[in-house]
Amino acid sequence: MDPLVLGIESTCDETGVALVRGNELLADVVASSMDEHARFGGIVPEVASRAHLEAMIPTIEEALARAGHSLADVDAIAVASGPGLVGSLTVGVSAAKALALGLGKPLYGVNHVIGHVAVDQLVHGEFPERIMALVVSGGHTSLLLVNDIATDVVELGHTLDDAAGEAFDKVGRLLGLPYPGGPHVDKLAHQGNPNAIAFPRALTKAKDQARHAYDFSFSGLKTAVARWVEACEADGREVPTADVAASFAAAVADVLVTKTIQACHEYGVATLVVGGGFSANSQLREEATARCAEAGIEIRIPPIRFCTDNGAMIAALGSAVATRGMTPSALSIGVDSSMPLTTVLV
Ligand code: KG4
Ligand code: ZN
Repeated sequence: MDPLVLGIESTCDETGVALVRGNELLADVVASSMDEHARFGGIVPEVASRAHLEAMIPTIEEALARAGHSLADVDAIAVASGPGLVGSLTVGVSAAKALALGLGKPLYGVNHVIGHVAVDQLVHGEFPERIMALVVSGGHTSLLLVNDIATDVVELGHTLDDAAGEAFDKVGRLLGLPYPGGPHVDKLAHQGNPNAIAFPRALTKAKDQARHAYDFSFSGLKTAVARWVEACEADGREVPTADVAASFAAAVADVLVTKTIQACHEYGVATLVVGGGFSANSQLREEATARCAEAGIEIRIPPIRFCTDNGAMIAALGSAVATRGMTPSALSIGVDSSMPLTTVLV
């Protein structure tokens, strides 16, 4: 029988704990401190760390209860040891070490971003031999060639400045929408014309192919939106916010999907997994689904509750490395706020 893995996520503002055996999810509990940050218009690391501290033990207990297991049944502990906020990571890693030491079970410190990909195995089953993965969130925008989720992940490119979700949040603020702006911009975009304004598509010119074929940049786009809105206001015209949102969202989705499909062709990959909180974005989902169908690429996007930060993604990756018999992490591991995406397990 596959090992019963308890996974702990605490990289940002969600405390997540899940139990997984093989690719079967037995329980998944998430406590979020998002409401405590909303009034500040951004995550406050100190507040997030304290919230993790308060939520950790009740969340572990709740996950065990829902799975119908006790701590004694757990065969391995997995924890996201990076990348993320140092204070937040420290709470999860400390809890995981205490459990591993107390239970005498192996500890696996795994990469949060790769967890966003691994979680899809709980939903759509084992990955084929090679997949492409687009991980998009408030903190990340990375294109990964996954030869093996437990051992061989290659980062083809990433954002050089803002993450996709971050750009949405900034445009949301610009348009006077509540924080976090991403989902509000998405909603507003449905009422606008995506072709109304020709916003720039960064790093998509022929000259960018040599060095930045798979990198992204969204800060120039965000500035272009700001300038466009300012010019409109300076002329005394009412800002057509729905058209701005729709044209901005179309530019982001276009760049993400164009580069991802190019990578699938270049590396001969027939399956794409999209993960991370921004994969809730409907413009990205529609564009990716339509263009993958045209290109004959299978697209796998987990349901939204598995795309935002959660414990299941960490338990899923822990299960993949534990089942593979990989060497567990030392109990002396630290947290790595900028863990490279080629590191699956520390
Ligand atoms: O992965 P996630 O939950 O948190 C981390 O950043 O780790 O991602 C949340 C990000 C936020 O920036 C949020 O505004 C954005 O994803 N987001 C969206 C949508 N839903 C969430 N952006 C655009 N459209 C959405 N529907
Ligand atoms: Zn995340």
